[in-house]
Amino acid sequence: MNIRDIAKMAEVSVSTVSKILNHKDQDISEETRKKVLKIVKDCQYVPYSNIRENANPRSCILGAILCGEEQENQKLACYLEQEARRNGYSLLVQFLQISQTEQDVLKELKKAFGILRSKSVEGVLFLPPEDCVGQAVNELQKEKIPMVVLKYTQNMQVLSVGYEQIKTGYMAAKMLIQAGHRNIGCILCKDAVGKDVQKGYTEALFKYNISMERDKVIAVGNVREDVEVAAKILLNMNVSSIVCQNEMVACSVYNALHAAGIQIPREISVISARDSQMCTLLSPQLHAVEIPYHEIAVLGIEKLIDNLEKRGKTKSFAEIINPILHERASVVEPPLGKLGTHEKIVVVGSMNMDMVIEVPELPKDGQTLLAHNMHLEPGGKGANQAVGVGKLGGYVYMIGRLGSDNEGRLIYNNLVQSSVKTDGIEFDKNAISGRAYINVAPTGESTIVVHRGANQNLDIHQIHKCQHLFKGARFCLLSLEIPEQTADFTLSVCEKYKVQVMLKPAAVSRIPEAWLPKIAYFIPNENEISRLLPGNMRIEEKAEYFYQKGVANVIVTLGSKGAYIKNQQYAGFVSSMDVEPLDTTGAADAFISALAVSLSEGNTLAEAIGFASCSAGISTTRAGVQSALADHMLLDAYQDEIALLSEIREEE
Ligand code: RIB
Repeated sequence: MNIRDIAKMAEVSVSTVSKILNHKDQDISEETRKKVLKIVKDCQYVPYSNIRENANPRSCILGAILCGEEQENQKLACYLEQEARRNGYSLLVQFLQISQTEQDVLKELKKAFGILRSKSVEGVLFLPPEDCVGQAVNELQKEKIPMVVLKYTQNMQVLSVGYEQIKTGYMAAKMLIQAGHRNIGCILCKDAVGKDVQKGYTEALFKYNISMERDKVIAVGNVREDVEVAAKILLNMNVSSIVCQNEMVACSVYNALHAAGIQIPREISVISARDSQMCTLLSPQLHAVEIPYHEIAVLGIEKLIDNLEKRGKTKSFAEIINPILHERASVVEPPLGKLGTHEKIVVVGSMNMDMVIEVPELPKDGQTLLAHNMHLEPGGKGANQAVGVGKLGGYVYMIGRLGSDNEGRLIYNNLVQSSVKTDGIEFDKNAISGRAYINVAPTGESTIVVHRGANQNLDIHQIHKCQHLFKGARFCLLSLEIPEQTADFTLSVCEKYKVQVMLKPAAVSRIPEAWLPKIAYFIPNENEISRLLPGNMRIEEKAEYFYQKGVANVIVTLGSKGAYIKNQQYAGFVSSMDVEPLDTTGAADAFISALAVSLSEGNTLAEAIGFASCSAGISTTRAGVQSALADHMLLDAYQDEIALLSEIREEE
């Protein structure tokens, strides 16, 4: 507010206002004089010249006008006040609301400045509103009062001290990239700060040659539910980490991940582009980028006082202060399986409670045996495969049906603990969970009898409800302890979404011929292929039969003899790992899950078969199935063996 504004409001000339204010108003009508003085009073206008010319020209009071977010305002006000006091000044602060139109903001700004001037402030620290920095700074410059802008501003004739918001997004994304993440989501608010954080995130991805996928940047309203939905969307895109605009967003992301049973940072890393005390209260403590409010306040006050006391030489000066990264506990390197892949794997199959009975030998007709031992553990081909993928760090959804019983809950919990996404699982009120009775001989050989229970009720309707899970998936691991129509419908869904099917034809003596061209990987064992194709044909001939019927890759697992592979490129054998088996149950599940993970990491079929054979071999050296499955770190220690097991020999 200056003399021109008063003149404009009173609809008189500037010299009229000046005469009235300087008591040289003899020739001015009483009516005009009253009108002008009323406006001066309403606007709390004090002529700057009066202040300077007064007996005590130094008030030693500084003013601050802060138009940031509430938290930002409070932090700055607190640090500015401390610094002003340390330098022998006091500080008067005016906070401006930011959720207004530009015009309203400028009006409020004038009012706020009027109040400060009426208190004889000597200079002003100004945090302009994010949306109209230039206009707001220009407006205050008209007041011709010493000023420091608390925002880094380029190309403006003004003293400024601040940080670049873009840097906060850049530093957060860079931290994740340096930890090894490539698949990074970003959740922002729909505001000017959000836009800058996004720019920083994009810049970091660009600098480190990571392709930027627009879908992975989600702008939300300030609603907690919106953030939780955004987090779920990112989970479906298999991100390994998330940049959050601020700690409030991060807090809702934590909630969403906890609710989905996802562990931070083991499965997903999270970082905030703004720090506050809340970051240290979250569990795990949140990595965050601190905006350097304290340094801004210190330097801002120093520059303003220099200017007032005529120590400052420059009229314009822009100083950037870098944000500070606080490394806490929410970022680690991504799970191994996520390093090179974004590909989803869907498992459709059985989930059972396995009753494992250790017997002196596998029972024969009419024989009664005494068991050495017995234990229960979660199993089922589908669940085993899903756990196998999860343990290897893959991105996996299980679709299946459990009974509403204790066994069902145990099986479910084991899946969650192995990082399997369980959106596709239903609990059946009218059936018990599937059971498998498994005899394991001292040689490690085993036989299995399955009572399907709830698996039998996994119907087309449930698969139909889960169709969205197939979208964007690379593989569907399908096994047949479920109804044939359900498997048939699953094949058609896979065809629709171009998902490659890996089929384990266990527990069936026939499969419809129409299925064969829809199967990308057909993985029977020796018994299973012979049941499907009885007769004296050799393994190579049987595999050739299925290949000719349209299966793209036939892989016959042969236990200790390795496996036979038939596809367009190969017709040959691979060896098995040289191990002393303790329990061979579930070796095929270990093989299939590892094959899918390795292929989804971009390895060749030969490499994937080596990896899968190694996983199967290791699983046979341990008792049980799910507990016997290896994780990626363990398999990575067997690089040499994997290389040997990847050699496909044309002749046996
Ligand atoms: O492949 C092994 C599995 O087959 C067992 O866990 C059992 O439940 C049966 O489905």
